[in-house]
Amino acid sequence: MNNVNFLKGRDFLKLLDFTSEEIGKLIDLAAELKAKKKAGIPHRLCEGKNIALIFEKTSTRTRCSFEVAAFDLGMHTTYLDPTGSQIGKKESIADTARVLASIYDGIEYRGYGQTIVEELAEHSKVPVWNGLTNEFHPTQILADFLTIKEHFGYLKGIKFVYMGDARYNMGNSLMVGAAKMGLDFVACAPKKYFPDAALVEECLEIAKETGATITLEEDPAAALVGANVIYTDVWVSMGEPADVWEERIRELSPYRVTSEIMAMAAEGAVFMHCLPSFHDLNTIVGKEMGEKFGIDCMEVTDEVFESEASIVFEEAENRMHTIKAVMAATL
Ligand code: CP
Ligand code: NVA
Repeated sequence: MNNVNFLKGRDFLKLLDFTSEEIGKLIDLAAELKAKKKAGIPHRLCEGKNIALIFEKTSTRTRCSFEVAAFDLGMHTTYLDPTGSQIGKKESIADTARVLASIYDGIEYRGYGQTIVEELAEHSKVPVWNGLTNEFHPTQILADFLTIKEHFGYLKGIKFVYMGDARYNMGNSLMVGAAKMGLDFVACAPKKYFPDAALVEECLEIAKETGATITLEEDPAAALVGANVIYTDVWVSMGEPADVWEERIRELSPYRVTSEIMAMAAEGAVFMHCLPSFHDLNTIVGKEMGEKFGIDCMEVTDEVFESEASIVFEEAENRMHTIKAVMAATL
């Protein structure tokens, strides 16, 4: 493996900070590391290093991916849970950054505003990786694009339709990723759930260079013509107040991914979701909302989630391989 750490010393905060070539190289490195792992070939590329994992919001995939990827690379981890540190409460982000950077070789941060992870990075002399903020979830996009590449063999020209709440971390980051990598991206949602207008403008500029297209569309029937990937995410994200559920369910139900929606896409289209997903009533929140609003799923039906077209678990596995690539490349 030549020049694995081609981003040595860089933070990984949002895809806007990287060139299309760099993003492509991260995806290719993840594929190489995945092949090594499957073949049982050790790849302890960061032997003896230590990393801190700060989670101010809960996580299954991202935390487990950082931990297993770190172990595979020969590193040790410290997990700081949403309540178990001084961060923000008794110690500023700037001070936390300087303390942790003097002990660790890299810092992962999951939390609220993007400005917090940016501030952490500004004051840290070691790489900082964004494990999700309200605005962006960049490691998720690498996993999504690796999964699409594995399935279709290419990224450029894939028609990617994002259904639902497109104004939060997933809609934003997928649009940026699509712009960088030359996909045809459609945000299909009511107008008030379209991605931030300034970010759309920025992506349209990037798209001029890469051949990507960026479309905002309210009508699912128009959006889905020729779609290869149909993607959705929860309608209420971590950190949002519970009282927005009623409005979200009312306004976003026409954008639920159903078999009828899938049938409007191209032959061979796949369903993707960053997870976790409310596709049935087998969760505390899903059950509560189901009973309250008389529904048996939210953003996607159980039928689509469990269908042949659904590649959500391949996608989830790829979180680990792509996060490993980000750490190996930047350390
Ligand atoms: N997709 C994702 O980030 O999952 P977790 O919240 O479980 O980390
Ligand atoms: N939009 C979701 C993504 C979870 C991976 C959230 O922020 O909760």
